[in-house]
Amino acid sequence: MIDVGLKIQSSPAVITIDGPSGTGKGTIARAISNWLGWHLLDSGALYRVLGLVVRRDRLDISDEDQIASVASNLDVSFVGVEEGTKVYHDGLDCTLAIRTEECGIVASRIAVFPAVRKALLSKQHDFRLSPGLVADGRDMGTVVFPDADLQIFMTASAEERARRRHNQLKGNEICASLADLSRDIKERDERDVTREQSPLKPSQAAVILDTTAMSIEEVTDKVKILVRKRGLT
Ligand code: C5P
Repeated sequence: MIDVGLKIQSSPAVITIDGPSGTGKGTIARAISNWLGWHLLDSGALYRVLGLVVRRDRLDISDEDQIASVASNLDVSFVGVEEGTKVYHDGLDCTLAIRTEECGIVASRIAVFPAVRKALLSKQHDFRLSPGLVADGRDMGTVVFPDADLQIFMTASAEERARRRHNQLKGNEICASLADLSRDIKERDERDVTREQSPLKPSQAAVILDTTAMSIEEVTDKVKILVRKRGLT
């Protein structure tokens, strides 16, 4: 065999953190990416920005092709600041606007469309940059980065997740009752878990972490141990 001197370059490392809303995966993903000095992908924010556009432009929420076409041209950027990450759409700061429950519900309704998911796939792959990426969402381990170096699936009881979401929204001065949030979370879980395309589920390789009775610090420490065990530091 002739050796053509082909050098296979390995892709930058990836850690995926999937799970339903309110498990704390976004907070943990940010803490781990800061600790490692790696890039961060909040994939839910992409679906939420798209949801925001659908609402703002009063698009037909059942028109998969139109929404997918908007998705493939979606101009979203993330800018790291001291308090977290700012999200920009077409150059405008939409960090808070995408965090409302209404936006989350629209995001989960359009996330069922295969053409929309396909349109957002390459955008998500673009985040895989050196020295590494921490990506959180619903299908990071199962579909978007199945070759990830470490896959984590976070769970927590529905009550605890509603409580956490309530506190998070209050912190952002967004009003929502706990009862409404519990109902919305249940509906969103149901849609995310039962959809045909990329349903929310742990990949075979995922380490499952039930965070119900754990503090953010405890979960962060646990993930750090897993990261070290995989030799990713
Ligand atoms: O994570 P977050 O609550 O911001 O996500 C909003 C919605 O976007 C989810 O309920 C889910 O339907 C959708 N989503 C998805 N796949 C991802 C991330 C989010 O379907 N990777």
